Parts: sequence; C-alpha cells; structure tokens
Amino acid sequence: MNNSGVLRMAVVGCGYFGEKHADIIGQLSNAELVAVCDKNWEAAKRLAQRTSCKAYEDIEEMLAKEQLDAVSIAVSETFHLDAVRPVAKAGKHILLEKPIARNTEEALEIVRLAEENQIRLMVGHVLKWDGRYQYTAEAIARGDLGEVISMYLKRSSTNGTVKRLHGKISMFHYMGVHDFEAMLTFAEPARPVKAYAQWVGKKNVPYNGKDTVFNTITFDNGIVACIQLCWALPEGSLDFVACAEVVGTKGASYIDVKDQGLSIYREEASGISRAHLLAGILRTCTWQAERRNQSFCEKYPER
Ligand SMILES: NC(=O)c1ccc[n+]([C@@H]2O[C@H](COP(=O)([O-])OP(=O)(O)OC[C@H]3O[C@@H](n4cnc5c(N)ncnc54)[C@H](O)[C@@H]3O)[C@@H](O)[C@H]2O)c1
Repeated sequence: MNNSGVLRMAVVGCGYFGEKHADIIGQLSNAELVAVCDKNWEAAKRLAQRTSCKAYEDIEEMLAKEQLDAVSIAVSETFHLDAVRPVAKAGKHILLEKPIARNTEEALEIVRLAEENQIRLMVGHVLKWDGRYQYTAEAIARGDLGEVISMYLKRSSTNGTVKRLHGKISMFHYMGVHDFEAMLTFAEPARPVKAYAQWVGKKNVPYNGKDTVFNTITFDNGIVACIQLCWALPEGSLDFVACAEVVGTKGASYIDVKDQGLSIYREEASGISRAHLLAGILRTCTWQAERRNQSFCEKYPER
C-alpha cells in the first residue's frame, strides 16, 4: 500500500466478471488498477486499453514487472489454484472470486498457500457485502425475528449463462454458492446435518447442465431451509431472479433482489410492524467494494 493508503491492484482473468472487477477497482478511492492479465492476449489488451492500465498474458511476468499490493483473481473456476499459486508465492494479497475452488483438496491447498506465504486471502462472496443480506443477518443475530424456523432462498438465471459456460461448472458452484453462504450465515451458530437435493435436466442437456435443483437442508437446531436454483429461464425474459425469506417465531424478513428492498415484519404488542428498507440499505457496487477493501485492511492491519 502506498503512503496515501491506496492499494495497487491487478486483475487476473479478463472475462465476464474480471471486467467488472477492473471497472470497479478503477472507480475506488482506495485502490489503483495497475494491470490486467489474461492468457487470452486479445482479452487482456482490450480491457487494458479501456481501463488505461498495462496488459499481460503471463501472471509471473506481471508479478515480476509491477509493484503490486493485491491481486483480484477472476479466472474460470478450473484455474483458481493455478492462478493463486504464483500470486501467493510472490507475497501479494488476493481477492479470489467464488467459489474458492472446485473441490475440498484444491480449496485446502489455496488456504495453505495463503498461510505459508503470509498473505491475506478473501473469497468474493458478494452477499456478505449486500446491505439487504447483511441487515437480515444482523436482525437475526439481534433476535428481531425470534428463533429462526425456516429459510427459503432462490436464484434463477436464463440458460444463456449455461451456454456461455459450456457446462464447465455446475450451478451449485456458479450460482448456488451465494445462497449456501447466506444460508449458513443466517443460521449461525447452527450447522447443517442433513441435505437432500432433487434435480431436473431437460433444456440444458446439450450443455451438460441441469435446469433446476431443489435442495432441502436441516440444521442441528431444527431449522429447515430450501434453496431453489434454476438456470433455464428463457433468454430475453427475466434475466435474473433472487430472493430470500427467513421466518422466525416473532417475525420474518423478505429480500427481493429485483425491487432492491428488504421488508422486516415483527409481531409486537400493538400488532404487526413492517419496516421496508430501500434507500437506507441500497448500496452501489462501488460502495460495497470500498467497504470491502476498507474492511479487508482493518481486519488485516499492515504487519
Ligand atoms: N461474484 C459473482 O457474482 C460472480 C459472477 C460471475 C462470475 N463469478 C466468478 O468469476 C470467475 C470468472 O468467471 P467468468 O464468468 O468471468 O469466466 P470467463 O470464462 O468469462 O472469464 C475467465 C477468464 O479467465 C482467463 N483465464 C483462465 N485461466 C487463466 C490463467 N491461468 N491466467 C490468466 N487468465 C486465465 C480466461 O482466458 C478468461 O478470459 C469465476 O470464479 C466465477 O464463478 C462471480
């Protein structure tokens, strides 16, 4: 970090989501986008030109030539470990896109590399930085909803996503990881003890993808949760749908990502109260990223 507290950052992976990382880092007051890197040289060059930074097609070369504090890794899931290894060994802090890896062995190796090289590693679970999901987690922890009874989380996308990914990754890893992370946060400190899933695959068979999966999860304190995932919506229709409902013994919380709001209903002596939070918790991506960087620095102060 330079004297004015600005993180010098690079983005590895200039595809669909790496572009968003680069754009947002470019807008932050506490970060500077120094370089982008992609093994597809054309993709790296195009993004570097648009964001006015340097382009590389080799991670090692970029690490050798640039003075960096942190690297945002947004390569395809298959290559997370390959991209993390040189960056961690160079001692650069990492923001790694979700899911951390495709399997437990790779995930543990990524954590081991971070510990061995004493770098800070954060996985990009975006709902942790979404005001509505944060506020719900805080309301549950305060006991505003009473004892949690059930949770229902849903995420749907069009089959355009499946076509773009060519069956490279499952819908659990690509979409479901967000809702599973939120569900575990909402249920804390309870832990899941049983899971049952049922899927249907009719439309996305040519892309090696399931259409929908319904998951039922039971926790050790009796909470029951359902996570419904689907990526078979017609292209050009709703595009993206996500919601979360948490029901407790004294209240309930509803998030609808499309309307940008959050409603909390509570049973009180005078009747039912409803708080609908919109502007108060509506956060832009830039705000979230600034908070994330700030929290990243606060949580891990300079050694
Ligand atoms: N947080 C979210 O909401 C969200 C949304 C979409 C994608 N993602 C995540 O972002 C990551 C990237 O997904 P995407 O949809 O942008 O994929 P993508 O296929 O569009 O882009 C990946 C890019 O990485 C490059 N690449 C692969 N291996 C590389 C390597 N070793 N070195 C340099 N470049 C390499 C590829 O050439 C490609 O340009 C995935 O982990 C995905 O799950 C997160």
